[in-house]
Amino acid sequence: MAHPNDLRDARFLLDVDTRPPNPVPPTILTNAAAMRRWRAANSGSCGFVPTMGYLHEGHMELVRRSIEENLHTVVSIFVNPMQFGPNEDFSRYPRDEVRDLAQLSAAGVDAVYLPNANDMYPEGYQTYVDVERVTLPLEGAARPGHFRGVTTVVLKLFNAVGADRAYFGRKDAQQLRVVQRMVRDLDVGTEVVACPIVREADGLAMSSRNVYLTPEQRSASTILKRSLDLAGDRWAAGERDANTLRALVRDNIATEPLAEIDYISLADDVSLEELSGLVTRPALLSLVVKFGKTRLLDNVELA
Ligand code: PAF
Repeated sequence: MAHPNDLRDARFLLDVDTRPPNPVPPTILTNAAAMRRWRAANSGSCGFVPTMGYLHEGHMELVRRSIEENLHTVVSIFVNPMQFGPNEDFSRYPRDEVRDLAQLSAAGVDAVYLPNANDMYPEGYQTYVDVERVTLPLEGAARPGHFRGVTTVVLKLFNAVGADRAYFGRKDAQQLRVVQRMVRDLDVGTEVVACPIVREADGLAMSSRNVYLTPEQRSASTILKRSLDLAGDRWAAGERDANTLRALVRDNIATEPLAEIDYISLADDVSLEELSGLVTRPALLSLVVKFGKTRLLDNVELA
C-alpha cells in the first residue's frame, strides 16, 4: 500500500507538471489583507519561505524546494525589529531589495510579501507568542527576547500567507526547533519543512551576516566546519562521551586566534537540553563563534 507521503509527493508532481512556466514577475503584496486576498484567489498548494532579505544561495535553495513541491510559492522579506536586541545589528542589517526581487523573479516565485513595520506592529500592538523551555538555552540565553520576536512574526506571517508548507534552513537549528514546537503546540496548519545547511565551497555556512567579515575573518571562519567535522567523524567512529566531543570542537577552534567562542553545545536534538556523560539519543552539536563583532552559527546533527 502506498505510504501517505508517497501520495502527497505524487500530488506535488501533478501540480508541477501541469504548471506553465512562470512568465511574469512576482506579485508584490505589502500588507496582510492584500496577502490574504492573493492567497484566496490562488488555490492549490502553497509553499512559503520567510526571510529577512539579502538573499543568498541558502535562501534560494529553500525557494527552489518550495517551487518543486508546491503549485505556488510566496517569499516574505521583512527585517523584523522585534527579534533584535537593543545593542544588536537591526539598523545595519544588510538590505538589498532590488537584487532580492530580481533573484526571486528569476527563480519563478509567484508572490513576495513585503510588509512594513508599522503594518506589522501598529500603534497599540501588545500580542506575543512565547514558546517556553526550548527557547531558554543557547541563542535564547545569549539573545533575550529574540525567540519571542521570531515566533511572533512567524505566526503573523503564517496567518497572512496561509501556506501549506514553510521552508526553514537547519543552520538556525534552535529557530527551527522553536518554530516546530510552536506549530505543534498551537495547531498551526502550516507544515514546517526542514532543509539542509547550504555552505560555501570552503565549508562556511551561508548567512546574510557573512558580509560583515573582513577577508582575514572570512578565511579564519572555515575553522567552524572543520571542527564540527572532527566531532562528526569521532561520533561516526563510535565516540559517545559528551564532554569529549565538546572538548574536541573547543580545542580545535581555540587554535584559531581570530575566533572567540561564545558557546559550544551538545544537546538533545529535540528539547535542546544540554547532555552529559554518554550520549544515547540523537543530539545536536551546535556552536556560536565570534569573529570581531560577527556571531557565526553552525551545527551538525549527530544521530
Ligand atoms: O531566519 C530568519 O531569517 C528570520 O528569523 C525569520 C524566520 C524570517 C523571522 O524573521
